[in-house]
Amino acid sequence: MDYKSLVEEAVKAREFAYTPYSHFRVGAALVGKSGKIYHGCNVENAAYTPTNCAERTAFFKAVSEGEREFSAIAIVGGKEGELSPLVAPCGVCRQVMAEFCDGDFIIVLGTPEKYSVHKFSDLLPYSFSKKNLD
Ligand code: THU
Repeated sequence: MDYKSLVEEAVKAREFAYTPYSHFRVGAALVGKSGKIYHGCNVENAAYTPTNCAERTAFFKAVSEGEREFSAIAIVGGKEGELSPLVAPCGVCRQVMAEFCDGDFIIVLGTPEKYSVHKFSDLLPYSFSKKNLD
């Protein structure tokens, strides 16, 4: 799948964002090495801290269905009714990526009209991962 189509999948995922508190809606489309796409949105909570980001929703859906290796993710977001030019993954989501992704995992950020393509190793250099525990 081309990157523009993957960003469009992230836009679709964003439709289900549950954001009664921040009104900031995020969507993610994660590609497993099997070729399957997992969609994720942010899911907020009245107690705030249980909120789950769109990226982690996509990863946890995938891992819970048996997929553990990934090639790319597209992320889109913005306040209700608009798409921001670029929404980068938070630190917690980057750490979840470090668990399952190599440095060459691709992260596509932006909008279907204008997006940029990043390598995970550029977004989280010197990461702590299971390799450190060997
Ligand atoms: N959010 C994400 O879903 N992904 C990110 O990478 C950044 C933040 C969500 C969490 C919360 O529901 C809202 O955006 C505002 O922080």
